[in-house]
Amino acid sequence: MIRSDYLIIGSGIAGLSLALKVAQKAKVSLITKKKLFDSSTDKAQGGIACVIDKSDSFEKHIQDTLVSGAGLCDKDKVTKLVQESPDRLNELISLGVEFTKKENNPNEFDLGLEGGHSQRRILHAGDVTGNEIENVLIKNILKNKSITVFENYTAIDLIVNENNICCGAYVFANEKNYIEIFQAKIIALACGGASKTYLYTSNPDVSTGDGIAMAYRAGTDVANMEFVQFHPTCLYNKNAKSFLISEAVRGEGAILRLKDGSQFMDKYSPQKELAPRDIVARAIDKELKTRRQDCVYLDITSKSKSFLMKRFPNIYIKCLDYGIDMAKDMIPVIPAAHFFCGGVKIDEHGRTNIKNLYALGETSCSGIHGANRLASNSLLEGIVYADRVYKDSLRLLNGKYYDLQNLPNKYKTSKNNSLVYMQEWEEIRRASWNYLSITRSNEKLIKAKKRISILKSEINTFFKHSPVTVENIELRNIACIADLIVNSALQRKESRGLHYNVDYPEMLPVAKDIVLNESVK
Ligand code: SIN
Repeated sequence: MIRSDYLIIGSGIAGLSLALKVAQKAKVSLITKKKLFDSSTDKAQGGIACVIDKSDSFEKHIQDTLVSGAGLCDKDKVTKLVQESPDRLNELISLGVEFTKKENNPNEFDLGLEGGHSQRRILHAGDVTGNEIENVLIKNILKNKSITVFENYTAIDLIVNENNICCGAYVFANEKNYIEIFQAKIIALACGGASKTYLYTSNPDVSTGDGIAMAYRAGTDVANMEFVQFHPTCLYNKNAKSFLISEAVRGEGAILRLKDGSQFMDKYSPQKELAPRDIVARAIDKELKTRRQDCVYLDITSKSKSFLMKRFPNIYIKCLDYGIDMAKDMIPVIPAAHFFCGGVKIDEHGRTNIKNLYALGETSCSGIHGANRLASNSLLEGIVYADRVYKDSLRLLNGKYYDLQNLPNKYKTSKNNSLVYMQEWEEIRRASWNYLSITRSNEKLIKAKKRISILKSEINTFFKHSPVTVENIELRNIACIADLIVNSALQRKESRGLHYNVDYPEMLPVAKDIVLNESVK
């Protein structure tokens, strides 16, 4: 058994920022499924939204977030997030994060523009913002003596006692092939999102909804799981797994075109390419389906090669690897699953409804994103909630460790475990893609419900009887996530933000969260 004051699960911006704060006062175990870098944060291109420019205001950032969230954001929480953002950004900068400055004025940040923003306000580090942030946070983590990092450790389930207090987690040591118990006074889930539940995604392989699934099995409320954000522009190329063409490219003037070169976004929104993401992704989906085409194209040939190489060095090189010179060629793109606006329901401090258990970042549903997250608000949410959780949880550090002596031995391990359930893995992801994507209908949701329920129950049975592997842990989790999406989607009898059901095309007058709990069926 490994005992520490704090157990943090996940190594994206939320988990790493929280670990650094908490380490000032406590001993921290930080566990991550692969290497520290393996997170969605590391892949984030766009940046962090923050009010900096003199012509900008908190009110405008708040308003853009609320409009994007289609009536479901919690205004009070959005207001606090936006007001706290400059302080949190300054903390990142003091740790060493370098955001790109203006070429003609090195004292000012170069601010990017993305869909749904009425103003340039995205701080970025070229087009590899997340990687810059991860680099700096990881460097600081590795020199901190109060933090012990456990790479290649996959959390399986939370340990919650009869008084509804979280006391730790069962964790699989991937390489050593054994189950370890991590005991802690405070447990924080910062495990990222769940977009690997879908066949096509912009996310890294680790995004299998582990935090949400574990919390749900343990008894937390999980909210708004139907709001899955599809990023409109992922590179369409069978070898370019998960590669995103940042929305910042549209912010710099890229136009979406059909195969024949015609534009189409003016039919869908006066903001055209810079409409909120749900609108752009739905427009592309509609064009592709009506015309039976495989992809649309992003055209940024209006900009010079030197501008593109400077502003988007990573995207430029990656496209060249696939034979596309974005200064001359249109980039083939399709929408893919990108971000979960729903998740473990938390209050303004990051608390869940299980004592001593916090959730933050994409794992959580904080009320910030509503029915559709505004671009570049997610890294911001990660640092703001890391600070909230840190401040709120200090009071628990003087608490006690609960007895874990008589825990049941629930899991098996085996050295010769070669069983991988590829068929089920593929079926869950395909069913989610076919029935739970951008355009839904009652018929699709009912089909999804039938198929996913059968698969989930089979997968849970295998899981009980088979030795633990990372693949089995992840498979059980994506099955749980798919089931949560379909159950939430079936309960939402309207179209709002990212949830569009052709059988209920209108938005209801009153916006409500859909909350699911394992114990209330
Ligand atoms: C992007 O660079 O387009 C992604 C930014 C985000 O998801 O907020």
